[in-house]
Amino acid sequence: RLVFVLNGPNLNLLGKRQPHIYGYETLADIEAECRRVGTELGLDIRFHQSNAEHQIIDWIHEAREIAAGIVINPAAYTHTSVAILDALSTCEFPVIEVHISNVHKRESFRHHSYVSLVASGVIAGFGTQGYPLALQRLAKLTADKA
Ligand code: DQA
Repeated sequence: RLVFVLNGPNLNLLGKRQPHIYGYETLADIEAECRRVGTELGLDIRFHQSNAEHQIIDWIHEAREIAAGIVINPAAYTHTSVAILDALSTCEFPVIEVHISNVHKRESFRHHSYVSLVASGVIAGFGTQGYPLALQRLAKLTADKA
């Protein structure tokens, strides 16, 4: 089964960006771990990052045609993007929302997520481990359906 793992703005700077909040692992490390766990779970992974809202929306449109699920860390767009919410709302498969940090113990503007309105589940504050956990859950949800 094909799964898209989508990452929003500034996540290309992981490892260098506020490491006291996001840790020292890079996006390449996360991608490698997703591919390793994906192989174990029988999931084929498409891994992407963009700083542009339209690019993320285009990948969601691509996923809705060919994928079995999406894991998405929309980063700051979590809190602002009705457009990403609308794109995800067109998908008939499970969507898992991931945040590296625990957004609920941070600024109040991070407490609201548009994406959570359509997410099957949300992982926050588990560090980069949230990604493989999300893939595990997606493997279970998509297997139940198959
Ligand atoms: C984040 C949390 C968001 O509030 C923030 O804008 C990010 C990353 C996280 O993974 O913890 O860029 O999604």
